[in-house]
Amino acid sequence: MELSELIRDSIKRLVPYSPGKHSEDVKRELGLEEIIKLASNENPLGPSPLAIEAICRAAPEVYLYPDPTWRDLVLALSTRFDMPPETIVIGRGSDEIIHMAGLALLEPHHEVVFSDPPFALYPLTAAHMGCKAVSVPHRNLTHDLEAIAAACTPQTRLVFISNPYNPTGTIVRRDEVDHFLAQVPETAVVVLDEAYYEYVEDPGFPQSLDYVREGRPVIVLRTFSKIYALAGLRVGYGFAPPELARGLKQACEPFNVSGIAQAAALASLQDEEQVRRSQRMVWEGKRYLYREFERLGLEYVPTEANFIFVNVGIHSRDCFDGLMRRGVTVRTGDIFGLPTWIRVTIGTAEQNRVFVEKLEEVLRQASSK
Ligand SMILES: Cc1ncc(COP(=O)(O)O)c(C=O)c1O
Repeated sequence: MELSELIRDSIKRLVPYSPGKHSEDVKRELGLEEIIKLASNENPLGPSPLAIEAICRAAPEVYLYPDPTWRDLVLALSTRFDMPPETIVIGRGSDEIIHMAGLALLEPHHEVVFSDPPFALYPLTAAHMGCKAVSVPHRNLTHDLEAIAAACTPQTRLVFISNPYNPTGTIVRRDEVDHFLAQVPETAVVVLDEAYYEYVEDPGFPQSLDYVREGRPVIVLRTFSKIYALAGLRVGYGFAPPELARGLKQACEPFNVSGIAQAAALASLQDEEQVRRSQRMVWEGKRYLYREFERLGLEYVPTEANFIFVNVGIHSRDCFDGLMRRGVTVRTGDIFGLPTWIRVTIGTAEQNRVFVEKLEEVLRQASSK
């Protein structure tokens, strides 16, 4: 017998996550001093000094298991968002809360619905649980909520909406979400994944915690990975009505979030200036990039997140290779089924300037061929 026969069919079909080449290898091979990484929507301003201090303070305690109830962090989030502590769940990144939702809610006969292209964790969760994944094509690079509601059946148990939508940065507004929630069967739980929430400028963005307060079958996800710049520590949080939140906690591994990560997240919440600085950087950066894309005649999608989806007019793999040789990494659109688009994280003013300069070089070289 082949040992691979022991692996479940739904897992065997998956392709392991490929982060691409390691930056250190790329630097060495190409003789570059620095790589500007605009591929994973991280925050290049880095974490709050308060978070770094908290990490150092928590370091000697790592011989202890962390608080499995995340008490201090839950209380701080409860105060910040005026939500009862029993509605709050903390995960090893919001990724883990997505996984908990799968474990808590999905039986193999259930269906999981999301937009195509999806955030990678949504189909992965369906596969982990052996469920059918139903992907609904985007409409004009945003969620087609009518089609998503129409794709729901009595078997649908989870619906994922990333808002803003990764990879395009578009949002669905409050009135659209209200209408959508009224159409979805009450046996389907809707996950509103708001990883980029703090970067949204549109006043029409949903007050999604109200859905949780009303006891609707909704889970709202947020994260410390993006604006708080703690991606490497892996802390995310979610809000759900108490009965659902309890189910997520029942599905959660004990001691899931390290003490260092909990301490850093807690300290980050005290530093409002770090959030404002990061917002300013992204909001100014996106306006700069819009102007530059217009100057270069490139179509782009106005964004509510810290990344922009832009049609570079050549194959995104070629654009990626050209940019990487010049020390900048982005995400190719071909993985999202949109082969001439790239997704670029909005960086510091200097990173954005270098990105535009290198993009211009790559496009000039491609047009001269
Ligand atoms: C839409 C979306 N949801 C969730 C996540 C996961 O974030 P975390 O680092 O909190 O697991 C990401 C990360 O890129 C994302 O883009």
